[in-house]
Amino acid sequence: MATKWTAADIPALAGKTALITGANSGIGYQAALELVRHGAHVYLACRNAEKGHAALSRLHVEAPGASAEVVLLDVSSIADVKRFAAEFLAAHPTLDLLINNAGVMAFPTRQVTPEGFERQFATNHLGHFALTGLLLPALRATPAPRVVTVASLAHRNGKIDFDDLQMEKSYKPWDAYGQTKLANILFARELARRSAGTGLLSLAVHPGVSQTSIVDNGPGANDLKTKLIFTFGKFLTQTDAAGALPTLYAATSPNAHSGEYIGPDGLGELKGSPVVVKPRANALDEAVGKRLWDVSEQLTGVVYP
Ligand SMILES: NC(=O)c1ccc[n+]([C@@H]2O[C@H](COP(=O)([O-])OP(=O)(O)OC[C@H]3O[C@@H](n4cnc5c(N)ncnc54)[C@H](OP(=O)(O)O)[C@@H]3O)[C@@H](O)[C@H]2O)c1
Repeated sequence: MATKWTAADIPALAGKTALITGANSGIGYQAALELVRHGAHVYLACRNAEKGHAALSRLHVEAPGASAEVVLLDVSSIADVKRFAAEFLAAHPTLDLLINNAGVMAFPTRQVTPEGFERQFATNHLGHFALTGLLLPALRATPAPRVVTVASLAHRNGKIDFDDLQMEKSYKPWDAYGQTKLANILFARELARRSAGTGLLSLAVHPGVSQTSIVDNGPGANDLKTKLIFTFGKFLTQTDAAGALPTLYAATSPNAHSGEYIGPDGLGELKGSPVVVKPRANALDEAVGKRLWDVSEQLTGVVYP
């Protein structure tokens, strides 16, 4: 990556299919936009039909002739992931690219899904773990499949608390988010290890700090931490389109390698052009990655082939 990588470097993607979770806004939408611009067919996996179709309409305006469709999926529900994957596989035997992007952040109070999981852990990690495992047959049926999982700088303060994964004993909004974003990198790296020699690439990425809906949907504008970051926002943060570049690099660059972690090259990795970056040591612990994998199989009932 001698020169700065931009969306103009995305290769032609005609004939490729991509599924993006949480594609109706922010980084997921911007990633979808560039993929359709380069010829891919994109499945916009959204939990809200109205928002999904509004995003699809916007896509057709911003990329006339875009090949895309909305598919409904609530990734926080393992039952819905299983329903979705069964229907998707029945209709589509192949999938070239899966982007595990949907996310929620730092709810002020602990929220629990109907299945009993802490909502950030269910959405950001468990649902994507299950989705990836169930879609593997379609991915492996293509010549060069990729799985991209969107993590965060917030992994740095994360810890996988195997004694209290659902944060029942003690809930702290940013600890809960950090745990899930650390889980994203551990998962991407473990998938890369398990897929070595199969042709499937698995990468983790992070968008620095990008202006999206994630604050309003999570901690809210009054949260001190987000207030500090976003008050100085115009200098420290970047657009959602720029935030999507690490995802797009990992998803399409011929120079991307399995197991890599891609983020912005600017000061503190807050913004900039996509490059290979180093996660903290907590994300490189293979033993924790393997244990999280086993626990995730038990919790979701999805055992990888
Ligand atoms: N923005 C940043 O600075 C930043 C920094 C680090 C990491 N990230 C990561 O980037 C990813 C995308 O976030 P964003 O910043 O683009 O925020 P965003 O604009 O709020 O987008 C999040 C997307 O996820 C969807 N989503 C949430 N829960 C879902 C569920 N249960 N099922 C299906 N979709 C669901 C949302 O759908 P609704 O519209 O229906 O809510 C939305 O489309 C997340 O994984 C986040 O952790 C963002």
